[in-house]
Amino acid sequence: HKKLKPFPKNFLWGASTSAYQVEGASLTHGKGPSCQDVKELPPGTSGLDVCADHYHRYKEDVALMAEMGFKVYRFSISWSRLLPEGTGRINQEGIDFYNNLIDECLKHDIIPLVTMFHFDMPAALDARGSWSNPESVDWFVEFAKLMYESYGDRVKYWLTINEQNMLTLVGPLIGTLHIPEGCTNEIKEIYQQNHHMLVAQAKAMALCHEMVEGGKIGPAPNISLVYPASCKPEDVIASQNTNAIRNWLYLDMSVYGVYNNLVWAYLEENDATPTFAPGDEEALKNGNPDFIGFNYYNTMTVEHYAMDDQEEQTAGSDQQHQRGEKGFYKGFRNPNLPTTEFGWEIDPVGFRSTVREMYSRYRLPLIVTENGLGAYDTLTEDGKIHDAYRIEYLRKHLEQIQLAITDGVEMMGYCPWSAIDLVSTHEGIVKRYGFIYVDREEFDLKTLNRYRKDSFFWYKDVIASNGEKM
Ligand code: BG6
Repeated sequence: HKKLKPFPKNFLWGASTSAYQVEGASLTHGKGPSCQDVKELPPGTSGLDVCADHYHRYKEDVALMAEMGFKVYRFSISWSRLLPEGTGRINQEGIDFYNNLIDECLKHDIIPLVTMFHFDMPAALDARGSWSNPESVDWFVEFAKLMYESYGDRVKYWLTINEQNMLTLVGPLIGTLHIPEGCTNEIKEIYQQNHHMLVAQAKAMALCHEMVEGGKIGPAPNISLVYPASCKPEDVIASQNTNAIRNWLYLDMSVYGVYNNLVWAYLEENDATPTFAPGDEEALKNGNPDFIGFNYYNTMTVEHYAMDDQEEQTAGSDQQHQRGEKGFYKGFRNPNLPTTEFGWEIDPVGFRSTVREMYSRYRLPLIVTENGLGAYDTLTEDGKIHDAYRIEYLRKHLEQIQLAITDGVEMMGYCPWSAIDLVSTHEGIVKRYGFIYVDREEFDLKTLNRYRKDSFFWYKDVIASNGEKM
């Protein structure tokens, strides 16, 4: 019966979306295609031209967020909506759309928290090699500059790259990173692309501090603690390896501007250390985050993977099928954790241990930029959505946040995924995450009307009581 500390007074309650998953209007209003628009559709899904139709209904959506009492709304800006070819020509209609969205938020006293890059490389730049091209650093800086110029007077909270670690670990699955044909050292190729992203991020952070008065910026990786499958010392080594390659590489780099030593040793062993362009080292040191944004869905568990292990590695505990590496780690299904109907492990306690660990390593304020439950929801005839399972998931995770606050962790805010139903990364729109239900099915667009789920009313009370009523 620990005495709990309250949520801080100015805690940023809100929720998140991303442009390509929520907006629709993917090839209209002057927007150029992104890599998401040109990639092969995941089986059984209908594409991105409508999504939740947020592009046309943002006013109604923001009003609903205000009704829930949101202090903050995390959304991303579509690069190819501002710059249809990724660089050069500006699409004024795109600039205006985000101007309107930002103004709408501010009208309702909602702070806009803007993700600069959420999985949607402009297709024109994708064709030029995407992040494998060393010029990608300059492309990103040009895009960042345009955003700061256009919105920096009103947007004071920025996030750089969503889940860069997932792009590096499972990029081809998300459709953002590519391995060029004929590549002979995949690890080297991927970590070179990763290096370009790290330098681009560092430059964007420095530029934010230069251009945006009072601007605050942070990364937004997917961070979750990696457990050892047992107390076997070799399993502990495997978990340290995986923590380094999955988590700390990204935060060590954002915060300290240096490569994590375990990862560097792994890269050396695989003849895969990235090439530094002149000035990279300095750029990496000069970009400093003001806070850490991070997405949390579940922990991961690994065991030792011996070099002479004959067994094929299993998919492991992580829903995103991160690969194991011989001699390094192998995924392990954690028998202590239940799973969602989509097979994702659920681990609220792991949320607390993750933030404890992160805070003790970096000592920066933390904001949760995603956390949530994907499920099939049912709209009843009287217009209700009884998503008690989602409430339970969120409540359990918030309880752990409060325990972490009690442990002395500086928590800035909580933005679960997602504010409103939107298209998932590869399982369509029927895998729903929102507080707000969108009346459509995968292929039948129906009315697209909005409905308040039970979780909507629950979250409204949570926010109104600043977390006292959960
Ligand atoms: C995160 C992404 O990885 O997880 C989101 O940042 C994504 O874009 C979310 O939608 C949930 O994953 P999924 O695959 O269920 O959409």
